[in-house]
Amino acid sequence: MNVESGAPSSLKLWLVIFLCMPTGCYQWVSASLPIHSDNLTGRPNVLFIVVDDLRPSLNSYGGPILSPNIDNLAAQSAVFQHAMVQQAVCGPSRISFMTSRRPDTTKLYDFYSYWREAAGNYTTLPQHFKENGYFTASVGKVFHGGKASNGTDDYPYSWSVEAWHPPTQEYKRAKVCKNMDGTLHQNIICPVNVTEMPLQSLPDIQSTDHALDLLQQFASRSPQPLSPSSPSRKSASKESGSQHTKDTSQPFFLGVGYHKPHVPFKYPQEYRALYPLEEVEIAPNPDLPPKLPPVAFEPYTSLMERDDIGALNISFPYGPIPRPYHYLLRQSYYAAATYTDFQMGRLLQGLEDNGFANNTIIVFVGDHGWQLGEHSEWCKFSNFELATRVPLMVHVPGVTDVQKQPRTKKFPLKDLLKNKKSGERRYSSVLKEGQVVNEFVELVDMFPTLAELAGLQVPSTCPPNPFKVDFCTEGVSFAPLITRGFGRKGVSYTRWKNATFSQYPRPGDVPTLESDLPHLVNITIMGYSMRTSDYHFTEWIGFNHSIFQGDWEDVHARELYVLATDPLEDDNVADSLDYQDLIQDLHIKLMRGWRDSLPV
Ligand SMILES: *[C@@H]1O[C@H](CO)[C@@H](O)[C@H](O)[C@H]1NC(C)=O
Ligand SMILES: *[C@@H]1O[C@H](CO)[C@@H](O)[C@H](O)[C@H]1NC(C)=O
Ligand SMILES: *[C@@H]1O[C@H](CO)[C@@H](O)[C@H](O)[C@H]1NC(C)=O
Ligand SMILES: *[C@@H]1O[C@H](CO)[C@@H](O)[C@H](O)[C@H]1NC(C)=O
Ligand SMILES: *[C@@H]1O[C@H](CO)[C@@H](O)[C@H](O)[C@H]1NC(C)=O
Ligand SMILES: *[C@@H]1O[C@H](CO)[C@@H](O)[C@H](O)[C@H]1NC(C)=O
Ligand SMILES: *[C@@H]1O[C@H](CO)[C@@H](O)[C@H](O)[C@H]1NC(C)=O
Ligand SMILES: *[C@@H]1O[C@H](CO)[C@@H](O)[C@H](O)[C@H]1NC(C)=O
Ligand SMILES: *[C@@H]1O[C@H](CO)[C@@H](O)[C@H](O)[C@H]1NC(C)=O
Repeated sequence: MNVESGAPSSLKLWLVIFLCMPTGCYQWVSASLPIHSDNLTGRPNVLFIVVDDLRPSLNSYGGPILSPNIDNLAAQSAVFQHAMVQQAVCGPSRISFMTSRRPDTTKLYDFYSYWREAAGNYTTLPQHFKENGYFTASVGKVFHGGKASNGTDDYPYSWSVEAWHPPTQEYKRAKVCKNMDGTLHQNIICPVNVTEMPLQSLPDIQSTDHALDLLQQFASRSPQPLSPSSPSRKSASKESGSQHTKDTSQPFFLGVGYHKPHVPFKYPQEYRALYPLEEVEIAPNPDLPPKLPPVAFEPYTSLMERDDIGALNISFPYGPIPRPYHYLLRQSYYAAATYTDFQMGRLLQGLEDNGFANNTIIVFVGDHGWQLGEHSEWCKFSNFELATRVPLMVHVPGVTDVQKQPRTKKFPLKDLLKNKKSGERRYSSVLKEGQVVNEFVELVDMFPTLAELAGLQVPSTCPPNPFKVDFCTEGVSFAPLITRGFGRKGVSYTRWKNATFSQYPRPGDVPTLESDLPHLVNITIMGYSMRTSDYHFTEWIGFNHSIFQGDWEDVHARELYVLATDPLEDDNVADSLDYQDLIQDLHIKLMRGWRDSLPV
């Protein structure tokens, strides 16, 4: 894994920091760069694609996941190498990036509160676009559903129409996975024959169909809502689609959230052939690290809840998953990810076919990473970089599409299979210089970035007590990284963000059945984590959930990984005497938090 970051520090920087403190610099930066005025006619649309549980093992990030369609997007995008989430689990991560606030400000570490009621009436990313005249629509899993978005995916605040969910998602617990003997079960590993599935479809196929319908409707500007006969409309609201079309110049913000490769790995069976078991590799570091504090370990209980993994009687909490299943899980994760890639391919093709390619900003992002047997861990629920780092690409027409190659129309799966058989990696993407962004970005940065790219008002930095301020950011726009990368003049900082911050809660010092997803009332420890260019440092401290505050005097455990020599984070040196001075320094920086890391 790439550990270098584009965030150098030098003596010169310190002068600038003093000049800029306390807040002036950040404001000054926000007001610049109306990229759209040069390169986009009118106000750009936004296609915001978020994929559940996708780690950056895509072909365009070095593999091994075959992702021809995402590679295609990568070839025309800024591709971020160090994009970090603020908490490695769906609900808290999504509410964080949709509001541009960190979990201590959304007060959401589990799934059971709604920020508007529990924290503050924060403006969301799509809400900002909606309030600026955009038609905003949500398809699939964009917000985390349920209580975390008040059962409505934050409609009507964020969306112009009710959020749409694929009807087949209802069958997510159906016994449709075939064992060797042909019997049907609720498995984690679940390649299926789609024609045998309920409604003969799968959620991400339906979401793509629905998004394509919407694009077509946006293109035709027909005043009619989508035809009720369209199968993908079954659960959509009556008003769906009707408001938007009156104003023919109204731009759109379309959020599309894919469910796979989240478990269970239920995907069309033909994708499995892309990853013959004998070619699937074992994790490079499959053993439990001896110096890992127990509080840091997540016992991946959600895997055990399904029939196939449950039947293995894996010992709690440390397992391990038996070797044959290590390979099978990796294989099906990759296959499910490639299936998602193909749905994205259909969506991007639809964008182009409907004439939106040259005036639509495309964002593609994962909501957090996933451990595939590294450190003897599976799933997310941790502060390891494997859980916190995600793929992130931003395509701005006329700015980031430096590679003028024509877009390949379609990637038939059979071609991919054929190439695979002949050992060819025809689709491996070659990113040009300037496309790869090595600087640190955090997902809280996406809101101000998209506002800036679209020429909307950019939220300024939240004050230290942010709860009463509806419109502000705990990130910073990274639009300057995109424009600078592509050789255009933009604001130049003396230095970019020098650290990223994530956190993860625990109910106690040792792994229990609740460790992965503790309810707020049971959270007693918070792992605060900071990634700098050289180190990954985590402190697990006592946490009072009634006041949403950690006690920095009450340190339960520490982790320190020296990335130059230990990029895979296997060797926790926090107890080594050699590092005590460094740890004191990092402790203070971690405690001071994200504000000190902002670009200056
Ligand atoms: C919260 O914000 C929304 C959107 O601006 C507004 O409609 C609503 O009245 C606000 N609620 C409160 C309690 O202020
Ligand atoms: C959340 O949903 C409840 C129940 O549907 C509703 O009464 C409440 O007004 C909603 N909250 C907000 C802020 O819209
Ligand atoms: C999928 O299921 C359908 C309907 O049962 C069947 O006709 C078809 O042969 C199956 N396809 C495969 C590849 O097994
Ligand atoms: C798991 O435990 C059950 C019940 O104790 C037993 O029937 C089964 O054989 C065990 N399976 C394995 C793989 O050890
Ligand atoms: C964008 O595409 C449309 C339709 O293909 C075309 O008419 C228009 O000139 C293009 N605009 C720019 C700025 O390239
Ligand atoms: C985008 O803007 C740059 C700088 O103004 C210009 O050189 C380039 O030709 C533009 N691209 C398109 C497609 O308009
Ligand atoms: C909190 O933990 C206790 C003890 O483990 C458990 O019984 C209870 O269900 C948990 N509370 C919630 C809301 O999960
Ligand atoms: C948490 O904070 C509240 C409010 O200050 C206090 O009453 C309570 O005793 C604290 N809980 C613990 C476990 O320290
Ligand atoms: C980042 O740089 C600022 C000075 O601009 C410094 O105060 C802060 O400690 C640095 N953070 C880290 C993690 O090095």
